[in-house]
Amino acid sequence: MKVVITGAAGFLGQRLAQRLLALGHLSDNNGQDQKIDQLVLADVVPAPHSGDPRVRIATGDLSDVAFLRSIIDAETQSIFHLAAIVSGQAEAEFELGMRVNLDASLALLEICRQLEQKPKVVFTSSVAVYGGNLPQTVLDTTAVNPQSSYGTQKAICELLLNDYSRRGFVDGRTLRLPTISIRPGKPNKAASSFASGILREPLNGETAICPVSPQLRLWLSSPRQAIASLIAGHNLPAAALGNNRSINLPGLSVTVQEMLAALERQAGREVAERVQFSPDPAIERIVASWPGAWDDSRAKALGLTGDADFDAVIQAYIQDDRPT
Ligand SMILES: NC(=O)c1ccc[n+]([C@@H]2O[C@H](COP(=O)([O-])OP(=O)(O)OC[C@H]3O[C@@H](n4cnc5c(N)ncnc54)[C@H](O)[C@@H]3O)[C@@H](O)[C@H]2O)c1
Repeated sequence: MKVVITGAAGFLGQRLAQRLLALGHLSDNNGQDQKIDQLVLADVVPAPHSGDPRVRIATGDLSDVAFLRSIIDAETQSIFHLAAIVSGQAEAEFELGMRVNLDASLALLEICRQLEQKPKVVFTSSVAVYGGNLPQTVLDTTAVNPQSSYGTQKAICELLLNDYSRRGFVDGRTLRLPTISIRPGKPNKAASSFASGILREPLNGETAICPVSPQLRLWLSSPRQAIASLIAGHNLPAAALGNNRSINLPGLSVTVQEMLAALERQAGREVAERVQFSPDPAIERIVASWPGAWDDSRAKALGLTGDADFDAVIQAYIQDDRPT
């Protein structure tokens, strides 16, 4: 089967590509296990690759329809649509966010609609679709009410994916990811970048600035678990999803204070004390509008799993990602 990953040079895209190549197969939309013959890694910057003969690197802008047409064709059975302008940048650069997060996603769905064979489309959405006066725990039935341009663009795409699936144009599934922590590497332009930075930098021997209050509650997942959920969500049979293609993925509900307490338990007080608080109202406003917990019982009933606890997330970073 031919599989396309958009945003393949990004943090999750790179990990997903590695995992799919190691796995070697996916479930098609008839529920049959199929060997991955071709993996197209599409991104505006070249995706790193190891020379695996199944990989095709496609470098271009997804908001260019000709580029989209060059990566999605009659052979394409599955698309993991990860390319996005993340939250902080989509808020700062409205037109760019609209063009990539909304216009390019709609163009991608339109190309799929014109194909005879309807591909599976996995769309990565976010906690940012929720906002406003939220219940303590967001339920599957809680209305989306985003409080950022990024969240609004994601929410519109979720609805489009539902409708394109209802009409049989694609076999879509929206996987709403928790905020991912701990993301290795450098800080990025997501409003939630600190949710990794306050752990990663101290663990790497550096100081970190926390722009939100210690009481702020976040809904988090490790990268390892997020990738497992993207693949498991892809492989679910359409019949299991019914008329609601959006799934709130499993996560952990933790406050910043609890994250730092786990850091101290795992790495010692000296490491945890490398975090300093310096409030940034713009970041706090966006991140505090997101849910600190959601009911993940639907995802779990569908067989998706989450991290055991935040200490395990820190241990996974130390094992998998901490620079040596
Ligand atoms: N990481 C998280 O905490 C998190 C949480 C919730 C949802 N998500 C979603 O998961 C997906 C992947 O997130 P990530 O953390 O890997 O983000 P990332 O920023 O690391 O990767 C996004 C990729 O999209 C690419 N891209 C941007 N504009 C493009 C364009 N016009 N054409 C082609 N490629 C383009 C970028 O070059 C980048 O490589 C995104 O859709 C994001 O919204 C991420």
